[in-house]
Amino acid sequence: MRHVLSLFDLNSDEIRRVLELSAQLKADLASGKRESLLENHVIGLLFEKPSLRTRVSFETLTSHLGGNSLFLGSDVGWGTREPLCDFMPILTSYLDLLIIRAKSHALVQKSLEFSQCPVINGLTDVSHPCQALADILTVQEIAGGLQDVSLAYIGDANNVTYSLAVICSRLGIPFNIGAPGAYQFESSFIEQLNADAGKEIIRQTDDPKAAVENVSFVYTDVWTSMGQEAESKQRLKDLAAYQVNEELMSVAAPGAKFLHCLPARRGEEVTSGVIDSPASAIVQQANNRLHAQKGLVVWLMNEHQVQSS
Ligand code: CP
Ligand code: NVA
Repeated sequence: MRHVLSLFDLNSDEIRRVLELSAQLKADLASGKRESLLENHVIGLLFEKPSLRTRVSFETLTSHLGGNSLFLGSDVGWGTREPLCDFMPILTSYLDLLIIRAKSHALVQKSLEFSQCPVINGLTDVSHPCQALADILTVQEIAGGLQDVSLAYIGDANNVTYSLAVICSRLGIPFNIGAPGAYQFESSFIEQLNADAGKEIIRQTDDPKAAVENVSFVYTDVWTSMGQEAESKQRLKDLAAYQVNEELMSVAAPGAKFLHCLPARRGEEVTSGVIDSPASAIVQQANNRLHAQKGLVVWLMNEHQVQSS
């Protein structure tokens, strides 16, 4: 049984296959075709944090594929009402697939030990693999492939940055992270990704302009992620020089596009002028959550199971 807790759980060929399936299922949907690939299957969504895109896209794709989804909020008592060794086997014995959005990556890792069905990470404090799949699907659509693209992420190195760094390393896409020293990844993580890629394609710098110079996609995320609210004032100060604004965008390659996982805070990590400009691909990017996750679910539940049986 496979779980997708981070994109380290998929090799390069598997990521490419998921992207291929995502594009194919997106085209199928556009032409009115909705195959019942998950007929009579039940997908649970165990969510500890708020969500618009992740929740609605997973529930919608489950309906498109002929299955049913169950939204499970705090009242089921994951990690609080009974031990994990009771909670997880029972919950997952009812389900065919579980999507988890959690405050603690460590709690998800521990929970997997007791899971009887595949689990997909719908965001933790460490990783957001579904977001990165949708992001790269979007980049591929806009650029017509992944051959000549490059990305810069400006802001703190967070869960979204982590998954972007892993997918870029897996697919050989140059990726620069522009963040103040205290908000960068451990250098050992970057070294590991570059060693996996066989070349130096992931770079960190504290100079936002150096990070953005000549890249084809500029990406940012909120400076205060869910769960970090107590640090918000400090983060606003520390990251003030890392706003994606018109001046920073002008350093990127001509025609560069702007990406944001959303939700955004206009006036903080990005100006309205950038996020609402023609360079912004945020709606296409958010819509691709549906298609990328559909590709991932079909691969995990259908194609991957068939291959491995
Ligand atoms: N980008 C993203 O995961 O959005 P939600 O928090 O709304 O799910
Ligand atoms: N880094 C953000 C992403 C939200 C989709 C957070 O964790 O809150």
